Amino acid sequence: MKKIEKGINEILKNFSDEEGNLIPILQEVQTKFGHLSPEIIEKISGFLKITENKIFGVASFYSQFRFNPRGKHSITVCLGTACHVRNGEVLLNTLERDLEIGTGECTVDKRFDLDRVACLGCCALAPVLKVDDDIYGNVTVVQIKEILEKYE
Ligand code: FES
Repeated sequence: MKKIEKGINEILKNFSDEEGNLIPILQEVQTKFGHLSPEIIEKISGFLKITENKIFGVASFYSQFRFNPRGKHSITVCLGTACHVRNGEVLLNTLERDLEIGTGECTVDKRFDLDRVACLGCCALAPVLKVDDDIYGNVTVVQIKEILEKYE
């Protein structure tokens, strides 16, 4: 039995097959594996007897769930009001273009994953982005390359 299948089975054995258990199951899977892969969703679908589409729809609604694995470093771009009006979206678009990934995805070399957030709690520094636990404020597009170079 594959490691991932064994891990899922260990989680599922603690639940009955009621649809109401979907969110708690997804939360445990997210904690254990860091993301919800298609293989995992298929397994949960079989257990709860609900479609994969429905599971995907429910999980997409909550930002706590990821569908792709994390990279070695995690980039979070703030798109809260303060950051949005100060071009946070341009930072995100630049990162998506330069890293050739979309929000919620991980680069091919697994170096970075990219996400957006509603507020990082330091609006006076807008626009703000975070790499792992490091906060960068008043970021401009030209600084992005320099920031990313710190993270190998
Ligand atoms: S809106 Fe970006 S830090 Fe608050």
